[in-house]
Amino acid sequence: MKIQSGDVLAFDVYGTLIDIHALTPALSMLVGSKAAQLSQIWRQKQLEYAFRRGLMGAFVPFSTVTGQALDYALKVTGENISADERDNLLERYRTLDAFIDARPAMQALSADGVECHAFSNGDPEDIESLLRSQGLWGAMHGAVSVLPAQTFKPAPAAYEHFCKTVDAKADRCWIVSSNPFDVMGAMNAGWRSIWVQRNPEDVFDPWGVEPTLTIQSLSDLPEYL
Ligand code: 2OP
Repeated sequence: MKIQSGDVLAFDVYGTLIDIHALTPALSMLVGSKAAQLSQIWRQKQLEYAFRRGLMGAFVPFSTVTGQALDYALKVTGENISADERDNLLERYRTLDAFIDARPAMQALSADGVECHAFSNGDPEDIESLLRSQGLWGAMHGAVSVLPAQTFKPAPAAYEHFCKTVDAKADRCWIVSSNPFDVMGAMNAGWRSIWVQRNPEDVFDPWGVEPTLTIQSLSDLPEYL
């Protein structure tokens, strides 16, 4: 299957365009050898908190989720940092590095006239800050945050909010994501999907559905145009 003219690509941000573990070296300065573990727990809790808040109907902006997940990760690893160090980490989370394949791929898609949007659980200003800082903003038609829908991916309402915002039918939308929960959430909402399997050991959840396409790097995307 190929991406057709008139289709809309929705790029997940954290973990797909942007490397969520890019702060590991900065964490090393604060917590030494526990940095990689802390970064993993931080991300896992960030997702879990977003899922739980979605189920509970207790939405807060994703930046709050991220801060609370950091606090959990610090507690569980037995680490203490100062309030200034915490603020600094969360500020740096707004300009995390992009993966190396992101900019060339987005530029190629933009040059081909493909309608690409960022689509994230992140707050609107954080999505913009991340994409601008990494030179990705100009290649996007737009950026859609779930915030106005007051829920998080993978709730169907999040994908419906995207379709409404960009004025596209679900069957013309593709999610491009490294996160299996997002790929499955989009397919559950009637979208097609491209799973970016960045590492061969990344496992897709065995729920009996498969991504429409699987690629190893964003650089493979133009082949499917
Ligand atoms: C996103 O950017 C959290 O990775 C997820 O929506």
